[in-house]
Amino acid sequence: MTDDLNFGALRSPRHILFGAGQRFALARHVARLGQRVLIVTDQRMAASDDFLQLADSVRVLAPALAVYDGVEAELPAECLAAGLDAAKRHGADVIVGLGGGSCIDAAKIVALQLAHGGTPADYYGEHKIPGPVTPLIAVPTTAGTGSEATPVAVISDPERAVKVGIASPWLIPETAICDPELTLTCPPGLTAVSGADALVHAIEAYTTARRQPDAEITHDHVFVGKTALTDPYALAAIENIVGSLAEAVENGKNLAARSAVMLGALQAGLAFGTAGTSVCHAVQYPVGALTHTAHGLGVALMLPYALEFNRAFAGAEIAAIGRLMGVSETDEMAQIDATIAAVAALFERIRIPKSLAEIGVAEDKLDWIAEQALNANRLIKNNPRPVDRAGMDALVAATFAGDRTRLAERN
Ligand SMILES: NC(=O)c1ccc[n+]([C@@H]2O[C@H](COP(=O)([O-])OP(=O)(O)OC[C@H]3O[C@@H](n4cnc5c(N)ncnc54)[C@H](O)[C@@H]3O)[C@@H](O)[C@H]2O)c1
Repeated sequence: MTDDLNFGALRSPRHILFGAGQRFALARHVARLGQRVLIVTDQRMAASDDFLQLADSVRVLAPALAVYDGVEAELPAECLAAGLDAAKRHGADVIVGLGGGSCIDAAKIVALQLAHGGTPADYYGEHKIPGPVTPLIAVPTTAGTGSEATPVAVISDPERAVKVGIASPWLIPETAICDPELTLTCPPGLTAVSGADALVHAIEAYTTARRQPDAEITHDHVFVGKTALTDPYALAAIENIVGSLAEAVENGKNLAARSAVMLGALQAGLAFGTAGTSVCHAVQYPVGALTHTAHGLGVALMLPYALEFNRAFAGAEIAAIGRLMGVSETDEMAQIDATIAAVAALFERIRIPKSLAEIGVAEDKLDWIAEQALNANRLIKNNPRPVDRAGMDALVAATFAGDRTRLAERN
């Protein structure tokens, strides 16, 4: 038996729907789960024709419908508290998160606190939620985060500089409904950063460290490293996203391209929701806190550097990713070089910035970024190459300078 097949783990929603028009399956899923539904969304979505039409269709079967449209980017504590108040006032017994990853993560927190009380801080980290949350349905409108299928919500804490995660299988939505027609309105910049986020999820899940499995691993950890059940989702995600992301960015009305990217984002969520992500995410948290740039932009900017950093520890995986991108060098080193270059070229084409300097990070913040990134233990432990302080400093410095060759020289 090869290493690839000796351990598999997968956690997922109970129902997953994908396809144009599937959003209209929402009404019967809401009615199946409860009688008083709160839709958690943002003002942009709540004012859209798509929303009004969908809410009308839900009201036919679930007339007790209320809307909380106060979700804000970065999920500040106040907007989560107001969402919880709205749920309590309405007596909600089903929560729907409708929107980008921010709205879905907000819905996860509302469903969590409605069922178990407390504050979000009570649940920071892995496996801190004691039981089922209020039934939760996720309907994404970006093709990116995969939050509709994942056990994690990422929020801001007024006491902390960087965003924090709550990770528990109980946070996985009961039902995920992915309708690519809802992404047709995403402007090119949003399509690019959210699609790049999904590609990073898939690549990090596929290249992440393989743990020594034992019967405790899934009880002790939410994110368990690369497994035989997550790899196929990661590979399918990579193929779908690399084949269609540039077209979705450049021709946003192309439903076939939108569909491929959204399917890829969902598959990436299924892969990383169990396998986990690693160093790109660890560095993005402090970088996002400093620059207020989008999560997807920050993780995508990191990816070519992270692949270079990890190449000696995930060479076979990087080479396989290259084959999905049409790279076919006979020499393994050349295959890895060309794969990293192909990832960088795709991101350049969709206008992802190429260095930390370019997004306004000051050089005197690099130490702090490295320190904070190393603190994200659940992510660092997943990286295929063990990361010490010197390695993290080198990675951050190369990414600041926009120079992958600095890392190649160290390998
Ligand atoms: N829980 C997870 O598994 C997970 C994974 C990755 C990222 N995240 C989190 O998700 C958030 C990012 O989510 P995101 O990238 O989806 O963006 P987002 O939810 O922050 O939305 C960004 C902007 O896009 C707008 N928007 C959303 N859908 C649109 C559409 N169809 N048309 C036009 N505009 C639209 C929103 O109104 C908002 O203004 C971050 O908070 C990040 O930390 C969560």
